[in-house]
Amino acid sequence: MRLLVTGGAGFTGSNFVRHVVEHTDHDVTVLDKLTYAGNTASLAGLPTGRVRFVQGDIADAEVVGRLTGDADAIVHYAAESHADNSLHDPRPFLDTNIIGTYTLLEAARRHGTRFHHISTDEVYGDLELDDPERFTETAPYNPSSPYSATKAGSDLLVRAWVRSFGVRATISHCSNNYGPYQHVEKFIPRQITNVIRGIRPRLYGAGRNVRDWIHADDHSSAVLTILENGEIGRTYLIGADGERSNKDVVELILSLMGEPVDAYDQVVDRAGHDLRYAIDSTRLRTELGWMPLYGDFEKGLAATIDWYRGHEEWWAPSKDATEAFYSGKGQ
Ligand code: NAD
Ligand code: DAU
Repeated sequence: MRLLVTGGAGFTGSNFVRHVVEHTDHDVTVLDKLTYAGNTASLAGLPTGRVRFVQGDIADAEVVGRLTGDADAIVHYAAESHADNSLHDPRPFLDTNIIGTYTLLEAARRHGTRFHHISTDEVYGDLELDDPERFTETAPYNPSSPYSATKAGSDLLVRAWVRSFGVRATISHCSNNYGPYQHVEKFIPRQITNVIRGIRPRLYGAGRNVRDWIHADDHSSAVLTILENGEIGRTYLIGADGERSNKDVVELILSLMGEPVDAYDQVVDRAGHDLRYAIDSTRLRTELGWMPLYGDFEKGLAATIDWYRGHEEWWAPSKDATEAFYSGKGQ
């Protein structure tokens, strides 16, 4: 297949491109605007005969139409992805997540192109800490932040384009990814790079909030499975049973990096902060036979710490601006 991967210079998109090159014969065109979150260094070393890079905006109908005409499938990762940024300035989230997705869907409709939409578990809102339930494909939408509201809106566009126009689309909702090449604004890389720089990690509030961690490689294998074998019109949840409180994760990072486990600061909490995410990925496992390979979070986190220690040239250019943004908000 010839794949058009939007947002392929970001964290999870570039992981998917590397996964496709390693595990399939598919060729890839990456369409990425290279916002502050995009970095072509995340695609370094991939064979130029199989991976082509185009800088452009998914809301630009001309470039999207041209590239879609040359593709068998679109895998749509591009988004404004950070909840904290959406609380500060929601507008780019509407432009990219809503208008950008609409632009891609119209091109897929015109060209009859297979479409896979990357969504998030955040569209379901949050769960209580003691709730025995986890999110399933039938959970009601209840987004909390401008980020998750625009992701929910984009999901509903995909569903409408499937039903009304027959676009051959699938949707996946994944939980929190970790691994190499994640921007230092996000929780795990922020704390790792803080410790490397001699800055104390920053925990929002009391750190009781729970996230369901999955290695980015497992997210990529799940997306490829759905792209190749998923049922058109169907939604799949992706998760690896990795629930941990933020406090536990900060303490584990500090301990793996040889620091006292209480050497962190509690800072201003995120407005509307979702308490807990938890994914039930039974459908994906039973219907499509997918399994995560990274069962050991501590081992995966240790490898991620090693990666950030060895790749300062990749993350250092973003670190100062990111910390300046946070310190302006007391975080
Ligand atoms: P990221 O912020 O690391 O990367 C986003 C990429 O999209 C960047 O390369 C950026 O330049 C590009 N982009 C942004 N606006 C664009 C535009 N208008 N046109 C073209 N390219 C544009 O994000 P990520 O964490 O890799 O997330 C990617 C997708 O995965 C998002 O849709 C997100 O909702 C979803 N997701 C992420 C996670 C996670 O834990 N990271 C979990 C579930 C779902
Ligand atoms: O669940 C999937 C989502 O995971 C994706 O849709 C998003 O794109 C991705 O960014 C991520 O969203 P979160 O908001 O959960 O991730 P973030 O890394 O920003 O924060 C994880 C948790 O850590 C959250 O409870 C907030 C907290 N936090 C975050 C930062 C940056 C801190 O305690 N301190 C921090 O410095």
